[in-house]
Amino acid sequence: AIERTLSIIKPDATKRNLTGKINAKFEDAGLRIVAQKRIHLTKDQAGVFYAVHKERPFFDELTSFMASEPVVVQVLEGENAIAKNREVMGATNPAEAAAGTIRAEFAESVGENSVHGSDAPETAAVEIAYFFSGLELVG
Ligand code: CMP
Repeated sequence: AIERTLSIIKPDATKRNLTGKINAKFEDAGLRIVAQKRIHLTKDQAGVFYAVHKERPFFDELTSFMASEPVVVQVLEGENAIAKNREVMGATNPAEAAAGTIRAEFAESVGENSVHGSDAPETAAVEIAYFFSGLELVG
């Protein structure tokens, strides 16, 4: 089915001017960028987005990192977009990411891993709504 997923190009990647190279990987995989904006999150805004990880030991590090530099938030659309995006991103830990994936090529560590992607249809809907209104999604 045609799905939409929420993607974030993280601070380690925007800082190194990798937005275009990462977007090329998405588009080459058949994912269409139907919404996109560059924003600078506050630590509180990052905390709301990652609320599910609030009790994890890395929560403070994660939210500080996400607020450290601008991010690019985007909505990707395509056939099986959620799984396809996760395939293109590669494993969370770049040391375990398959060759050719975004994290294998660009990520610096498990924390500074260049991209985020929704993990299921329910979370995709919540995450898209956190950053975008319906009018901003241009299929
Ligand atoms: P993401 O898909 O954005 O969702 C939660 C993030 O937490 C994850 O990617 C990682 O970047 C980050 N994360 C996971 N494990 C660790 C860890 N051990 N230390 C720091 N950050 C982590």
